[in-house]
This record gives sequence, structure tokens and C-alpha cells, in this order.
Amino acid sequence: MTPHITIASSEAAFLKKAAQVFLESVADAVSARGQATVALSGGSTPKKFFSYLAEPYYRERIPWTKVHFFWGDERCVPPDHADSNYKMAMDALLKKVQVPSVNIHRMPGEMEDPREAAKSYDRSMRLFFKTDRSVPKFDLVLLGLGEDGHTASLFPKTVALTEREKLVVGHHVESVHANRLTVTFPVINSARRVVFLCAGDSKSAIIKEIFRTDLAVDRFPAQRVNPVEGELIWILDSQSAARLPNDVKDQAQHV
Ligand code: 6PG
Repeated sequence: MTPHITIASSEAAFLKKAAQVFLESVADAVSARGQATVALSGGSTPKKFFSYLAEPYYRERIPWTKVHFFWGDERCVPPDHADSNYKMAMDALLKKVQVPSVNIHRMPGEMEDPREAAKSYDRSMRLFFKTDRSVPKFDLVLLGLGEDGHTASLFPKTVALTEREKLVVGHHVESVHANRLTVTFPVINSARRVVFLCAGDSKSAIIKEIFRTDLAVDRFPAQRVNPVEGELIWILDSQSAARLPNDVKDQAQHV
């Protein structure tokens, strides 16, 4: 499916668009299946978005008790560590809204062995989604984008990029000198909706590369995000979109 691109003219417009997509994804899921399943991302851009969702307008309109929160990736640190994506989401959003603790499915970043941590989360996901063999289908997967084209903790030149069986991988990522847990592309691409949140002029170069059509795709991990049946949405701001070709900009939604 062709990705849908929105270019926001301000941070307020960016956050509002992201919140509207979140609200719509949750409402559709709850109406169809009685609950919504969301995989959260780490990063400074998602963090701003989480804080925005916790503000009264959206806080009062989202059926938090019906939303189950998972993580697309995690740093291999304890849940109270400053680098923890879980801690970031808890502080920015989940502690401020009425999400039952049973709806918060944290990646066990504190486990000594990242491979064991990945297996444990793989099991938890399969148990929750009641899938032994098939890939869980999230209603919404939120992703950030690194300047090297990584997304979640799927980094360039890592074996995790080609993982097709496991739902979750625990690996050492040389480029960030750290162990990470990450869902794999089969999980991301099985989602009903995948949304990239990408803002700031530091991302303009990688965004230009991601959307180039004159070179082979898959040069960057983020280019492997291609939902099988779901929708792919890129929410950019004018800074991160600055180097996009005019034809791509012309086809984008501007808010
Ligand atoms: C993480 C994220 C990672 C992040 C990107 C973008 O754990 O860091 O999952 O994929 O989303 O690096 O981060 P920024 O929005 O801070 O640039």
C-alpha cells in the first residue's frame, strides 16, 4: 500500500494530527473488537506526542481502560532507568491516564540476557494475542526514525533485520554500544496501522533518502516497514520534510 504522508506546518499541527490518528485507531479497534492494541516507540519525538495525549482534550476522549500498551522496542535497562522507553511512556502519559496496570505490557529490559528477555516477551505477546503460529496483529504501531534509518531497535547491519520467525529479538547494537530488545518486521508489517512520527531538520536528510525512488529500496531499515494489509502513515513536520522531492510534497496532506 502506498504510504500516506502528512506534513505539518507547526509542532501543534504535528501533535494534533498524530493524536487524531491515535484516537481514530483506538476508536476503530474498540468498536470492532472491544479493545485496542498499541505498540509504543521510544525517542524524543514520540515522548512529546505522549505528553500531548495526556492533555485534557485527548485524555478525556480516549477509552484508556480498553487500550493495551506494548512496546516496539526497549533499551536493556531496568524499568526505572532514565533510558527506559517504558519509564518515558509511563512518565509522559501512562501515569496520567486511567490505564489499568494489567493493560501495560512492558518489555523486560532488566533481564540479564537480552535473548532470554526477547523470548519472554515473545511468549507474552503470543499469550495475549492467542497466537501460537500466526503473527500478532496490532491495531497501531508507533515508530520513530533514527538519522541512520533505524526504527524501533532495528538498526542497519544487524541480523534482526532479516528475522522472519521470532516476534522479538534481543541483541547488542554496536552503533549505540548497547543491548536492545525490538519487535521484528513481521510484527510491524502485520499491524492494521503503522505510524512514523518524524520531526526536526536533523531528520530531513534521512527522510529524503527514505523516499528516493531512483535507488533500490531496503537501503535503510525503515524502508522495510511495509504493512501487508495495514495502512502506513508518515507524520512529518516541515523541517523533516524539507528535502523531499516536490512531487512527494505535492501528494502529501498538509496540515
Ligand atoms: C528508541 C526508539 C528509536 C527512536 C528513534 C527516533 O528506543 O530510541 O525506539 O527508534 O524512535 O531513534 O528517536 P528521536 O525521535 O528521539 O529522534
